[in-house]
Amino acid sequence: MADVRIRVRPNGPLLVEGSFDLVDSADATFPSNKDKPVVALCRCGTSENAPFCDGSHNRSGFKSEPLAPSE
Ligand code: FES
Repeated sequence: MADVRIRVRPNGPLLVEGSFDLVDSADATFPSNKDKPVVALCRCGTSENAPFCDGSHNRSGFKSEPLAPSE
């Protein structure tokens, strides 16, 4: 099983669970809260706290519910 699990929330963020580093385009690491087991990453593009989800997807009407292909 993978060390990191990423779950696509319907019409919302990516929930990342596990141990990982989140780095920006200059390779600087975003601070993390080791006590918080899940991080929500914005995939709607409207968060004012990018790359983290701030709940703005609820107000923006973002619709996306991709499903993995069935095997
Ligand atoms: S997914 Fe939540 S603010 Fe973008």
